[in-house]
Order: sequence, then structure tokens, then C-alpha cells
Amino acid sequence: MKVCVLPGDGIGPEIVGEAVRVLEALRADGLKIEMENALLGGCAVDATGEPYPAATQKLAREADAVLLGAVGGPKWDSLPRPQRPERGLLGIRKDLNLFANLRPAVVYPELAGASTLKPEVVAGLDILIVRELTGDIYFGEPRGIEERNGERVGFNTMIYSESEIVRIGRVAFEAARKRNRRVCSVDKMNVLETTQLWRDVMIELAKEYPDVELSHMLVDNAAMQLVKAPKQFDVVVTGNIFGDILSDEASMLTGSIGMLPSASLDDSNKGMFEPIHGSAPDIAGKGVANPLATILSAAMMLRYSFGDEQSAARVEQAVRSVLASGLRTGDIWQEGAKRVGTREMGDAVLAAL
Ligand code: IPM
Ligand code: MG
Repeated sequence: MKVCVLPGDGIGPEIVGEAVRVLEALRADGLKIEMENALLGGCAVDATGEPYPAATQKLAREADAVLLGAVGGPKWDSLPRPQRPERGLLGIRKDLNLFANLRPAVVYPELAGASTLKPEVVAGLDILIVRELTGDIYFGEPRGIEERNGERVGFNTMIYSESEIVRIGRVAFEAARKRNRRVCSVDKMNVLETTQLWRDVMIELAKEYPDVELSHMLVDNAAMQLVKAPKQFDVVVTGNIFGDILSDEASMLTGSIGMLPSASLDDSNKGMFEPIHGSAPDIAGKGVANPLATILSAAMMLRYSFGDEQSAARVEQAVRSVLASGLRTGDIWQEGAKRVGTREMGDAVLAAL
């Protein structure tokens, strides 16, 4: 398996470095993996003028999977939009047709106290957010800022086709079959036609999955329910923008955004795997970032793109035992735990492996 590694910006290189060490350890144990680095985001802009350069595109297209750290930072925020790091991220998602974004939010027993919510609300939480990733208002046309009647107006287009809704719906229903067989579809059908269609199509599709229970929730209520009673959910399926927002919210149930991995898949088994957090420029280069979300993303890569459940479970188990042993990076640190940096956390996962 060929993996294109994109460390990106900010803390990206540090956290990806630890995930790569984990993969190298597995390679020493027989995992067939080749890794090659490329540039994405601000570092790519600095080197080539573009956030998703042709060389990266070539490597990413040829690879079986992509492992990504994070992109962006204040240094590039004032560049014209096409040159911003975020555009590189959206570009690679669209280019590789990675329409299905899986964002699991799991509360490890050891970390129940790290959430700002009461431990009893989050202990044992295991939900999966299935976010559509290549459509919606993120990509809809027309878009822009222009002058109308003597003032500036900004506009974007929220748009979904039936086929886009069906294919992400299938991913959610199939995922639910491997879990607790419940799908909650989140929309805003009381106001937005796009999401009326979303709901109609989900209801039609559900007929093909009689063994899975489908429910619906408006996005504002879903935002509330996620902090009120998050354990009511199994699989949540939603569009690109709602999924972006709800998955950040869900990350806080787990105590830290530094814990959440994600997989973005196309309709074969190819995928890009990245932590859901950003490049955290404020702590970049300090060696304190939590590498666990990236290491867990590498585990998702082993599961989904390599079809190697055993290695995936082995990595996840190593992470669990490191947490059980009391090691914590700053973001999940609590009284009584041992505070460690990025490298030490990586060392501990390697030792546990
Ligand atoms: C995410 C991020 C991205 C998104 C940004 C960086 C473009 O917030 O992966 O959730 O909005 O999709
Ligand atoms: Mg986001």
C-alpha cells in the first residue's frame, strides 16, 4: 500500500511524525506500507505558490491512502482566497472524490473527567458522525462578494443533488449495520429546501434498510441534544456545513479535540485520514501537541483503506493502554496525571504497541 503523507502546517509535522513512527513500527512487524511526503496547505503555498500543487496531486492520486496533519495559520490568512491553505484541503477532498467523512466521537473511560460536561453525561459515549464532504454550501455556485445597489453583498449556494444524498445516506446506513442500527439524519427542513430534499431522500432510502431505525432532527435541536444527552445517538448523518459544526461540538464531549480522528472516503476504499482539529499555530513547534488524534487516524487508515482490522485494533489498544497508564498531553491533562509532550506520547504508544 502506498501512502501519501501530508504533514501540512503548524503542529501538523509534529503530530504526523508520531503517526509515521507508529506505522514504521508496524512495517517492521510485516505491514506492507510505503510512505512518501508531499506538501499541502501553507507550506505548499510558500514553496510553490499553490496550496494543492500538481506534484502533490499526482502523488495523492496514485496513492492508496493519504495521511494528513493539518493546514492553515495566520501567516496565510490574508492571501487571496484561491491561495489559502483551506482551499488546498477542500481541493484535495474534491479532487479525490472523498465524499464520506467519518468522524467518530468516543469517550475513553480514562478521559470521562476531561470533558467539560458531567462525566455521567459522556461516560461510555460512542457516536459516529457521517458528514457529507464534497457538496453543500462549501462548493455550491454561484458564490462571491460583489456590489449590488451601491453596497457589497456576499452570497453562497446551498445545493445537494439526489445522488449526492443517496450515496452519503448509504454510507450512514451501512455503518449503522455494524453498530447499533440507528441513524439520525440532521437537517433544517423547516427553513431550507435543500434539506427538505435531504430528508425526503433519506426517508426513501431507509426503505432499503428495514433493519436500521431512521430518525430526523433539526440541526439547532441536534446541537442542543448533543450536549444535553449525547448518548441517544448512534450514527448521525448530515451535510457538509452542519457536519463541520456538529463534529467540533461532538469533539468536546470527548474532552479534547486533540483526540478525534477522521476518515474521508471515496466509493472504493481509498481515503484521506486526518485529525479533526486544526494546525494550532499557537502551540506549533513547542512539542506539546497531542498526537493521539493523528495516530488514531492512522488506525482508521489501516481499517478502511488497508482492510487490516487487526493492525487498526492494535494501534487503538496501544492508545487506550497509554491513557490508562496516566500519560496526558496538556489538552487532556488533569490533576494527578503525568503531563507529557508530543514525542513522549508517541514513545509511549510505540512501547505499548
Ligand atoms: C474541518 C475543517 C475544514 C472544514 C476547514 C479547515 C476548511 O474545519 O475539516 O472540519 O471546514 O471542513
Ligand atoms: Mg471543522
